[in-house]
Amino acid sequence: VGGRIRPVTPAELSTHNTTNDAWLAIRGRVYNITHYLPYHPGGPEELMRGAGMDATQLFDKVHPWVNYDSLLAKCLVGPLRFDLPDAD
Ligand code: HEM
Repeated sequence: VGGRIRPVTPAELSTHNTTNDAWLAIRGRVYNITHYLPYHPGGPEELMRGAGMDATQLFDKVHPWVNYDSLLAKCLVGPLRFDLPDAD
């Protein structure tokens, strides 16, 4: 299971910023949080504050103890990569 892991550029990440299609990055890993939104203990609105961006600082400010990588294991899209050309 799993697979289809692929690198994501910041420009692509930034387009996934709606409640129907929300991605965020923490410590260089991009997650599709769309299906986690209703389950976030802090509410979907709080989680959406980090959508479409590198949310590492926001996340660490609120709850650095939360094991996001295990909670979002099935939501991993791939590594955030700054050194790739953006697709059109
Ligand atoms: C709780 C905000 C991302 C998992 C909370 C709470 C806030 C918050 C304000 C406190 C709710 C309360 O106690 O009433 C945010 C913001 C995020 C973010 C602004 C943007 C980056 C995430 C992510 C995950 C996550 C990515 C994991 C998938 C949790 C969990 C709690 C929580 C498990 C309960 C923590 C506890 O009570 O110890 N969040 N969150 N959050 N959030 Fe987030």
